[in-house]
Amino acid sequence: MGSILVSGGTGFIGSHTCAVLLNEGYSLIAADNFSNSSPKVLDALRRLTGRDFRFYEADVTNAGCVEKIFAENDIDGVIHFAAHKAVGESVANPLKYYSNNINASIVLARACCEHGVRKFVFSSSATVYGFGNPPFAEDMPPVFAANPYGMTKVICERILTDTANANKDFSVILLRYFNPVGAHESGMIGEMPGGVPNNLMPYITQVAKGKLKELRIFGDDYDTPDGTCIRDYIHVMDLAEGHTAALKNAPEGVSVYNLGTGRGTSVLELVRAFEAANGIKIPYTIVGRRAGDIAVSYASADKAQKFLGWKAKRTINDMCRDAWNFEKNYGE
Ligand code: UD1
Repeated sequence: MGSILVSGGTGFIGSHTCAVLLNEGYSLIAADNFSNSSPKVLDALRRLTGRDFRFYEADVTNAGCVEKIFAENDIDGVIHFAAHKAVGESVANPLKYYSNNINASIVLARACCEHGVRKFVFSSSATVYGFGNPPFAEDMPPVFAANPYGMTKVICERILTDTANANKDFSVILLRYFNPVGAHESGMIGEMPGGVPNNLMPYITQVAKGKLKELRIFGDDYDTPDGTCIRDYIHVMDLAEGHTAALKNAPEGVSVYNLGTGRGTSVLELVRAFEAANGIKIPYTIVGRRAGDIAVSYASADKAQKFLGWKAKRTINDMCRDAWNFEKNYGE
């Protein structure tokens, strides 16, 4: 199985991936600086899986901290999640995003090359497809993304690709996530956005809880059947399982896979699905479009199925039920 270093291990996707790694028998070394997550996740992961793991409170842009982690552990692979991810903040403070997200990838990739760590899984995003026409397939070239957050994904993909091309013992797997939502079925870990959420599902769950008054739907005049935007929502546990499939099955060298379901759901459909799954009414108003939103985004999901043997299994109903189960019990 081997030991895997997970950067950003207490974040939303990171924590669910740690749970899957532990359940599948990997030995885990997790690192996080808690810039957008809580130390409580560590205990929840231990209780949830009944397994222990090593944890470093560390900023992975700090080469000294990263060197210590690599010197103290025999690492077989790295899954690199640690990054800033708020699109609006990245527009307001681009240097924060370029410096943090790009440096973290460089520092970790360099440590891998120096310590003979052969596998690097990178947390990329469907945002690299920009305003193209879905279904988005992996052979579509990454574009100049619409915002600094998206550009950090494009640039990191390139840096890691160049590094793997120059080092035959270093393989890179780029995973482009669509819209991860939901939570672990136990309700013990989930999404914990700080402040008012930017993303749709955590906004809905906070309206359901009464923390926010109503959902604002950004535009109902798009060229879609109900006028609201369409996205490829994927259960975070399916996404997490995509990472172990990638560790096991991706070929050497550079490879890239979408992690999505291949199905689109509109904002209104998601609201209705949430109401039906949980028996809670979500009040909403329609407001103007949000700058930078694309009308329709969904994955071509064939490549991951063919080469990784992985396919998303959970339904929109599962996503709505589990997102609410977490918010209801544990959301702060
Ligand atoms: C967003 C980011 C994307 C990033 C991803 C991370 C933008 C433009 N894109 O994706 O780069 O990788 O998050 O998870 O920010 N919506 C509402 N009301 C709300 C919130 C959202 O109507 O309060 C709508 C949006 O207009 C969109 C859909 O819900 O149509 C999904 O939005 P969101 O969850 O923010 O995801 P993306 O915009 O797809």
